[in-house]
Amino acid sequence: HDNGLALTPQMGWDTWNYYGCDVSEQTLLMAAQAFITYDLPKYGYEYIITDDCWQAPQRNATTGAPVADPTKFPSGMKAVADQIHSLGLKFGVYSSAGKYTCGGHFGSLGYEQIDAQTYAEWGADYLKYDNCYNEGLAGTPRLSYDRYANMSFALNATGRPILYSMCNWGEDGPWNFAPVYLIPARLVRAVTYLTQTIANSWRISGDIYDNYNRYDERCPCTSMIDCKLAGFHCAMTRIIDFAAPVGQKAGVNHWNDLDMLEVGNGGMTYDEYVTHFSMWAVLKSPLVLGNDVTNMTNETLEIITNDAIIAVNQDANGSPAERMWKVPVASGGDLSLWSGSLVNNTFVISLLNTSPETQTVTVNFTDVFIDQGPSYQTGTYAIYDLWQRDSSGAWGKNIGTYTGAIPNVEIGLHQVRIWKAVPATTT
Ligand code: GLA
Repeated sequence: HDNGLALTPQMGWDTWNYYGCDVSEQTLLMAAQAFITYDLPKYGYEYIITDDCWQAPQRNATTGAPVADPTKFPSGMKAVADQIHSLGLKFGVYSSAGKYTCGGHFGSLGYEQIDAQTYAEWGADYLKYDNCYNEGLAGTPRLSYDRYANMSFALNATGRPILYSMCNWGEDGPWNFAPVYLIPARLVRAVTYLTQTIANSWRISGDIYDNYNRYDERCPCTSMIDCKLAGFHCAMTRIIDFAAPVGQKAGVNHWNDLDMLEVGNGGMTYDEYVTHFSMWAVLKSPLVLGNDVTNMTNETLEIITNDAIIAVNQDANGSPAERMWKVPVASGGDLSLWSGSLVNNTFVISLLNTSPETQTVTVNFTDVFIDQGPSYQTGTYAIYDLWQRDSSGAWGKNIGTYTGAIPNVEIGLHQVRIWKAVPATTT
């Protein structure tokens, strides 16, 4: 979506995963202050986003404008946005392309103009736009398009750059909206958006659950949207599975949103959170923190500030990694290899072990460089492990120079390896 924003995946913090409905100006401003205390803007984190439940019980009875809950936001949204801006950060707001939000507050369906206009007046820089209570205007044949496009146009019409984050849970394959929407009545709209999507990012699954791989037979998460519709959540590694086939649908200013991060919320081990953060990064998901940033362990802080991993996420190529192979392991889970292109003819390689035991794997460059061809496959590369520090303490340790393969890699249960490959020769 070409509003000049999200040239790389957006980074920030959102209230939902930690606070749920318990939002207030206090929670937002405390998080904003913690951003400064922990120097998070230096790493790229910039948006402070209120999720659901900021709303008053009713809109303004005269104008229809949205109103913030006066108990939770006694100073009003504009004052909160001003304070966030004064810290050099950006402010995000939430609504739904439905009659109500998922938490049952007033939604924006039919109120797109006044809502977009009011958010802009408050100084909002970001809108997360949900999919609840959509009045049956969902599913085939692409009825979500209009609901999401109407807000897209309304945001653009305000003249304020507002990053547009579609929270449609993968419904309707949002990456398909523009090219297939070529029916005459909507031709103008379709042409405008022919080479673009209507949003800067879109969700590809139901809500994340702070768990590595829990299988819930009530909701096996076999399709992108089924868990959401059934009211259940998706374990972290299931969302990685959903991202694999749609990775390349994303790119500069239109990203697959794997949902907000759970790093630091306590439901996963250190290695599992490293996997979570790493895979979100290589798949070019927005990196929106969802933990209590006012109270973080050193481990949590270390994960979310690994600037070598963040650099992969924010690489100007904007090319999500692709899954080159995946093999099941008898005891459960699987091994998979992922590869992505970075700027300056460099590459990111990811080896993922979701099985319950240590594995030994030889990473063949014939697999890594399927897309690049034979000269790359036989090439020699300096390999940097982005979860090891070099002698100066910087993330990204050179672990050697390899031709043809990285042989016999030992990878522990629920671990990931993220390597950067820099060609020494390509012929
Ligand atoms: C939906 C979204 C979540 C969150 C809640 C708020 O479930 O997918 O990310 O915004 O609504 O009610």
